[in-house]
Order: sequence, then C-alpha cells, then structure tokens
Amino acid sequence: MALLVRGGTVVTAEQAVRADVLCDGGRIVQLATDIAAPKGCEVLDAGGQYVMPGGIDPHTHMQLPFMGTVASEDFYTGTAAGLAGGTTMIIDFVIPNPKQSVLEAYRAWRGWAGKAVADYSFHVAITWWDETVSADMETLVREHGVNSFKHFMAYKGAIMADDETLVNSFSKAITLGAIVTVHAENGELVYALQDRIFRQGITGPEGHPLSRPPEVEGEAANRAIRIAEVLRVPLYVVHVSSRQALEAITRARNEGQRVFGEVLAGHLLIDDSVYRDPDFERAAGYVMSPPYRAKEHQAALWRGLQSGNLQTTATDHCCFCAPQKAAGRDDFRKIPNGTAGIENRMEVLWHHGVGTGRLTMNEFVRVTSTNAAQIFNIYPRKGSVSVGADADLVVWDPAASKTISAKTHRQNVDFNIFEGMTVKGCASNTISAGRLVYAKGELRVERGAGRYVDRPPYAPYYDAIRKQAELAKPSGVERPRR
Ligand code: URP
Ligand code: ZN
Ligand code: ZN
Repeated sequence: MALLVRGGTVVTAEQAVRADVLCDGGRIVQLATDIAAPKGCEVLDAGGQYVMPGGIDPHTHMQLPFMGTVASEDFYTGTAAGLAGGTTMIIDFVIPNPKQSVLEAYRAWRGWAGKAVADYSFHVAITWWDETVSADMETLVREHGVNSFKHFMAYKGAIMADDETLVNSFSKAITLGAIVTVHAENGELVYALQDRIFRQGITGPEGHPLSRPPEVEGEAANRAIRIAEVLRVPLYVVHVSSRQALEAITRARNEGQRVFGEVLAGHLLIDDSVYRDPDFERAAGYVMSPPYRAKEHQAALWRGLQSGNLQTTATDHCCFCAPQKAAGRDDFRKIPNGTAGIENRMEVLWHHGVGTGRLTMNEFVRVTSTNAAQIFNIYPRKGSVSVGADADLVVWDPAASKTISAKTHRQNVDFNIFEGMTVKGCASNTISAGRLVYAKGELRVERGAGRYVDRPPYAPYYDAIRKQAELAKPSGVERPRR
C-alpha cells in the first residue's frame, strides 16, 4: 500500500523544504508540496515535524559470539529497537574466528540476520591470512555486495590482526575496490598493560580504562593510517574515542589522504568516571573498548564532528546483560566488552548536537545517515530523501521529550549507558521500505522484513587515488647516465 507523509518539512544533508513525500513499492515516488493522496493510500500527518532520511548505524554487533558469551540483542530485537529510535539500516560485522573460513562465517551471519526487521549489510573482518582468505575477499566483493573489510588491531589471542595481516588484507582490498576499516588499539600494549595492572592488584572495572589509555589508540590509528597511505587504500577508523586518534586522522586528511572517522554517541557523551563507580554491575555495564575517556576527549570529538574530520556516528551496539558481565567480577579482563545504544543514538545526538547548536539539522542528517551511505557506497538509495530512493524515513518531533531508561527501552539488555538522560526531540514515526513500522509509540514490525543491502565496490575512490599517484610521479626528469 502507498503511504503519503503529509505536511512535514523535509530535512536532508543539503536543505530543509516544506514537502509531502509519497512512497510506493518500497521507494519514494514523489516529492512535492500538496500531493493529493492516491486512492487507498495511507496518510501520515507530519505537520510541525521534520521528515529525514532514516538513520544508518554503520557499526553494530547483533548476537555476536564474543569473550565466551553471545551478545543478548539479536537481529530481530536489535533492528526493532533501532526503528523505534529512527534508525532504518545497520551495517553489522561478520567476524570469523582465526582459521575459520571467511565465507563460512559470512554465511552464518547471513543466516542469523534473516529475522531482521530493518535493512542490513555487513562489513567482513579479516582476522587471519592465507590464500583462501584472499580468495574469499574477492568472492565477497564480486558476488555478495561486500565493499568493506574490518581489522581488529586489539584483542590479542583472539581476533587481532597483526601488521602482516593488515598489509596483506589492505593490499588485496585495493585490487577489489574495497575500503578497509580498523578498530585502532595497540593489542600488544593492551595485553601487557592488562597484565601489569592486574598484578598490581587492580582487578575491578577501573582497571579497564587504565589498560587502554588514549596513546594506545593514537598509536594504532596512526599506524593503520600510514600503512594505508603507503598502500594507497581508503581507510575508515571505527569508534574514534580519543584526541590522539582524531589528531592522526586530521593530520592525514590535511595531507590529502582518504581517511574517514566514526564516533560513537557514547564516546561523545560519557566520561571515564563511570568506571570508578564502586557498584560492580554499574561500572561493568560501561565496559567497552575503546573505553569512555576523560572529558577533554569528548570536547575534541565534538570538534572533530563539527569540523568534518569525523564523518559518521554509530553505536557499536553490542549488548551484554549483568549476568554476562559478571564473568569478570574478579578480573576486569574477563568482562565482556560492549555497550548498547541503537535505540538512543539519534535522540541523544539531536539533543546534544542540534539542541546545543553544535550541529545544524542538515549536519545532523549528514552524520547520522548521509555520510555513512556515501562512504559505504549506497547513496542515494540510502541516506537521501529523493525520488527513487528507498522509502526509509524518520518523522522527527522536535517538541517531544523523554527520559531514557533501561526500564522502558526496547533494547534486549538490562542496562542503558544513557540512563536518566532527558532528551528533547525524538522519532515519532519511522518508515522502512515504505511501511509505517513505528507509530504512536508502538512497533509494527514483521519478522524477516529487513533486506540485505548489496554495497558495490568503489571505483571513484580508486580512480582518484590512481590519478593522484600519477600526478605525484616526477615527470620529464631523466636520470643522469653513468
Ligand atoms: O567493546 C566493544 N567495542 N565490543 C564490540 C567489539 C568491538 O571492539 O567493536
Ligand atoms: Zn571495536
Ligand atoms: Zn564494534
């Protein structure tokens, strides 16, 4: 059935205009003032509200098997919670175990995601290397719509990619027109610091940030950037949490390198005092990597977002309930790393971004949706409000307010990192593939309605990089003969 979103102001990355939006067959088919509702069409009154591209969360981990347990939020509950907060697409991660076939892992994740209620796609992690991994990367790009490969520079002894793996994988990615992404923390340093801190008798969650200081992130970000520079591959740094990592990205961008940075809503708004809470359950609830940082880093991250040196916002939604976090009661190294946020990302960013004047509405759209769509090559199908685009929309009520709590959220986890925060500006209605899936505070989702989104490789980046390399070659200079 067609759906007419009537009377709202359409806000995109470029403009804000009064327009109605007619959706049919899952797409936007008309965008104009005063569209007459076709016969039988459902009409949604968006008067006094903003109609924006649905949010894209480019970093989630639904039902991730990790640190001896499995994340409590699955693809059904997680994408539903996202829709309630205005997020209509996720990019999750396939993470093979070392020595596991990459294609086999990809197929497993595709199977788990079949119950998603919103659209989804996958970055694929490269956790080890041999010729089969190289061949699987090629198959994933050519046949399965994968255009991004992730590398964990931390989690030694588990999924960490060493420099040799980075070099091999980055080099292969170039030949495929794929982008590479990194979790930037020096895994060797983290391992050594964890051991040292634990032996000093610091066993509680306060040991977590001590073992992962900002320098550890800055070093890894810079290393990944320089490897990417030498190999001439575009790089995306996930969950940038520190001034040091941001500076490495900013420096590289100023030198003309194609480097992108993602920031989590949590890293923008929460500081490291949470780890000094004497209540184990509360402190452990915030254990994620990289950890929440001292306040100076939050100020730097906001500046990074405002200046455009950080382009996307995400959540790293990875949920573990209190009994799971309790695995590390006597040893912070065993607390499963991960926090939630998919339901709250858009509203906390609106409140603390647009509400404070740090971001304009257009910038809000850019950092919650459009930039992710462009970087991961699915624009304008996603991230835009335009004729022909997928009808993934959020109707945003700037006057609505709510107080966030684990008691009322839909996320399948017993903890909320934004507990007690009151926000002004919320999703009132969410539309996914032309269907009203969240309205009047209720979800109307259909299990399995989410679609897998193919992301083609990136000819434009590589053409540009190749041309730059040509220009940089000394021309017409003959070597003197001996
Ligand atoms: O603590 C985190 N971030 N857990 C999920 C895995 C990752 O590092 O992204
Ligand atoms: Zn990570
Ligand atoms: Zn992650």
